[in-house]
Amino acid sequence: MQAKVAVIGCGNVGGAAGLALAAVEGIELVLIEEPGRENIAKAKAADIFQASCAQGIDVQVVGTSDWSAINGADICIVTAGRPRSPGMSRDDLLEANVRIIRSISYRIKNHAPGSFVFVVTNPLDIMAHQLFLHTGFPPYRIIGMSGHLDAARFRALVSSRLGCSVREIQAMILGSHGDTMVPVLSHCFVGGIPINLLMGSSQIRRIVHETRHGGGQIVSLMGTSGYFAAGACISEMVRAVLFDRKSHFCASVYAQGEYGLHGLFLGMPVVVGRSGVERIVELKLDDKEKAWLQRSASQLRILSERACSIL
Ligand code: 2OP
Repeated sequence: MQAKVAVIGCGNVGGAAGLALAAVEGIELVLIEEPGRENIAKAKAADIFQASCAQGIDVQVVGTSDWSAINGADICIVTAGRPRSPGMSRDDLLEANVRIIRSISYRIKNHAPGSFVFVVTNPLDIMAHQLFLHTGFPPYRIIGMSGHLDAARFRALVSSRLGCSVREIQAMILGSHGDTMVPVLSHCFVGGIPINLLMGSSQIRRIVHETRHGGGQIVSLMGTSGYFAAGACISEMVRAVLFDRKSHFCASVYAQGEYGLHGLFLGMPVVVGRSGVERIVELKLDDKEKAWLQRSASQLRILSERACSIL
């Protein structure tokens, strides 16, 4: 696989995503950090390269703060910005991260104008929207990593409770990658069986609650955001493009009428392949799920307006 992938931001998530992607034979990875933190990028690049060599995988990995290194990248993964500290919601990061994301948007536009952009920085749906506005890229080339991670958390909980393989579990989490995310229980299955036939409603409610707060729980235990699961999800999503997998998962993408919503990024089921977001799928939701999705969208709109008003 010949592909140039830029990881922008070499914190915990950037490192974990880089490591997961360095398992793809032939890939050219560029890790970018801001000037002054260049050594972090260089160190993580060396560490990741050595990990690939240990596994007998031929890749190229460089760490730098020179943006010309990402010239012509096929994929840019945006992880830069502040992570959460205990007690913070993802939305509390808006002020701290919005300017960083804008300046990264201009760099991506200049250096990798044909790239697909994957967004991890929080608040994720809003940052994806900012990247869309400030790169001017078409919506099918901007994809936020939200529902894949939230569904992984839901599936992990169901797998532990039922003692079954996670491979049997399908979950759909729409809406924001935040406290108003919408686990769509009418489309959650275990081996094709609707989840409410296998678990009681109080058990399901608890799983929904723990999914919504799964990221926050890690923050309160360790003082910062989790990164292994986020890195794994990004790697899967990037592979969907690189290998034209036509993968189905939920991601934060630009709504243009789907679910009656327009002009915002939020989690919806998508098909992702070589052309990026190849399709957005509209599920048949029950009335409660529709109302939750509208509530999530309304909160995102308020936050998005706040982001646009920050100079
Ligand atoms: C999380 O949920 C970092 O948003 C990411 O863990």
